[in-house]
Amino acid sequence: MEEKLSSVAKKFTPSPIQELSHLAQRCNAINLAEGFPDFPAPPCIKEAAVSAINSDFNQYRHVQGICDHLALIMKRMHGLNVDPLTDIAICCGQTEAFAASIFSVIDRGDEVVLFDPCYETYEGSITMAGGIPVYVALDPPQWTLDPDKLMRSFTSRTKAIVLNSPHNPTGKVFSRGELEVIAEGCRRWDCLAITDEVYEYITFDNLKHISFASLPGMQKRTIITSSLSKTFSVTGWRIGWAIAPASAASAIRNIHVKITDSAPAPFQEAALTALRSPSKYFEKLRREYQLKRDFSVKLLTSVGFQIQFKPQGSFFLFAELPGTCLLSDVEYVKELIKQAGVVVVPGRGFFHGESSLDQPSEESRNYQKKYIRVAFCKSDATLTAAAQKFGELMNAGGCPKLQY
Ligand SMILES: Cc1ncc(COP(=O)(O)O)c(C=O)c1O
Repeated sequence: MEEKLSSVAKKFTPSPIQELSHLAQRCNAINLAEGFPDFPAPPCIKEAAVSAINSDFNQYRHVQGICDHLALIMKRMHGLNVDPLTDIAICCGQTEAFAASIFSVIDRGDEVVLFDPCYETYEGSITMAGGIPVYVALDPPQWTLDPDKLMRSFTSRTKAIVLNSPHNPTGKVFSRGELEVIAEGCRRWDCLAITDEVYEYITFDNLKHISFASLPGMQKRTIITSSLSKTFSVTGWRIGWAIAPASAASAIRNIHVKITDSAPAPFQEAALTALRSPSKYFEKLRREYQLKRDFSVKLLTSVGFQIQFKPQGSFFLFAELPGTCLLSDVEYVKELIKQAGVVVVPGRGFFHGESSLDQPSEESRNYQKKYIRVAFCKSDATLTAAAQKFGELMNAGGCPKLQY
């Protein structure tokens, strides 16, 4: 069969990082790698899902109430006027919403600007659609957006820019000034923005997430994608959405229907309960994640890291290995699994240096192999157990290979 596989399928091979997952499993390592919570989802929304199954909401379904609620939320939070009948497509998670958005606007040869580092899945959809990813580096240590660099990345072939804020893996929340620069690029080059706002409710230190579409003139150029996954700790439910001007939303809906028909019916019903959550739910979410962020920063600091960029949002900490550590990110993670029994993600998978606009120097390629991503969306018990493991390692003088 192998010779019959499509060229796309041949390109999508398991990443070498999966080898690390196997090692972590063999060592029964504490998992600070995966970007999903290991604590329970809110009881009331689980009950709503169970009740929906028992009430026989078990067939293909479109729950219009989700669109009605999202339209109200977009007005309340961002001042956006969204028509719930025409401007929203319910999809299977942000992942499908993003893929369907790409397929609805990207033709072969269209360029799509992305920030580097970024969440790994965007490139797959873009290349499947025949689009060409063009990466613009965010500059460490603060992951600063250089306006000139960004402007140089647009060409007459640019169809869209992808914006993920709050950002995976760095935890950056794009400021209004940065969004204005991006908006200027979109206007000048007449291109679209596809946003990924799955961490919209997880911001820290009183920072507010600004939806790009709320900038003057941008709603008509923007496809917003988001989901229930992170806000309600239900990544397995696969409920997400795209919000866009009617013509794009209709195209996304048509593609969604061809690929998956509809999102899971009982979880759409439960989404109604989730989206109606009182403001204190979102405040608590923020508060608890901020405590977990602070705990994780302290933890890494205690084992020799200098955290130069404290996450402003999301639930990831992207930390540079201590300057004196001679290991690469992958080597470090391997040793951490073996010696401390803790697994995190090597940072290199989030970088795309090879295809960046500005040819990366040897030095920049090196920095891309010097980060680890720690997911702090874990229970206090898991985080405490990880701290204990790190502590034991340090008390034992550290493992020789992890000494720095
Ligand atoms: C930035 C970002 N976007 C999207 C997703 C996936 O979202 P969903 O579960 O809604 O497909 C993730 C999951 O890790 C993510 O980090």
